[in-house]
Amino acid sequence: MRWLQGALRKVPTWVVYLAGLIPLGWIVYLTLYGGIGVDPVKGIEHRLGKVALWFLVGGLAISPVRRWVNLLKFRRAIGLLGFFYVALHLTAWLWFDMGLLLSQAVADLWKRPYLTYGIIAFLLLIPLALTSNNASIRKLGAKWRMLHMLVYPAVTLGVVHYLMQMKVISNEGWIWLAVLIVLLAARWRKFAALRSNR
Ligand code: HEM
Repeated sequence: MRWLQGALRKVPTWVVYLAGLIPLGWIVYLTLYGGIGVDPVKGIEHRLGKVALWFLVGGLAISPVRRWVNLLKFRRAIGLLGFFYVALHLTAWLWFDMGLLLSQAVADLWKRPYLTYGIIAFLLLIPLALTSNNASIRKLGAKWRMLHMLVYPAVTLGVVHYLMQMKVISNEGWIWLAVLIVLLAARWRKFAALRSNR
């Protein structure tokens, strides 16, 4: 693994931001040249949601896997990309599905409760995205770490939203849930260890 770590150390963060835009390029390509599916709105919406999930859950995995591979340097980029894709996913719903009509959006939220979980997850991610910069880390000090603990409820709500929008939870859905539980448990163990060391 040392060779991998050495190679990763040489990768600049901008490469991760750039690579993170590949799924968006792919979705745009499928939309323009066919392949997005019979229902393009759903095709776009679902793909953006899935990419967001990959980045957000992937971001949570960085800390527990660091004993094997240290990706801490890329954590901010991965988190911000996750937020970016959630924002696009929300925009796709508002724009293509709701036609930017607020009354329609409110009616849809009322009709499909899982959307509320998605919205809360998005709202929780906003302060995290806004403070994902060195100036905020310096300014907020210890409070910054506390604030960024919000990522756990945010991603949990994102996964709950994803599972709730299925009529029957698929195998893939169970896998996402299992991965989330493992990641939350890893965090909890670290938390408990820190408290007992105090
Ligand atoms: C952390 C936040 C969120 C995550 C991780 C997320 C993720 C997902 C995923 C993975 C899917 C299903 C994709 C698939 O089956 O391939 C989905 C579906 C959907 N999401 Fe989200 N989402 C989030 C927030 C939101 C928000 C804020 C809205 C807008 C209110 C929203 C609206 C929708 C809609 C309309 C669907 C499609 C449901 C259907 O086809 O019936 N999501 N989301």
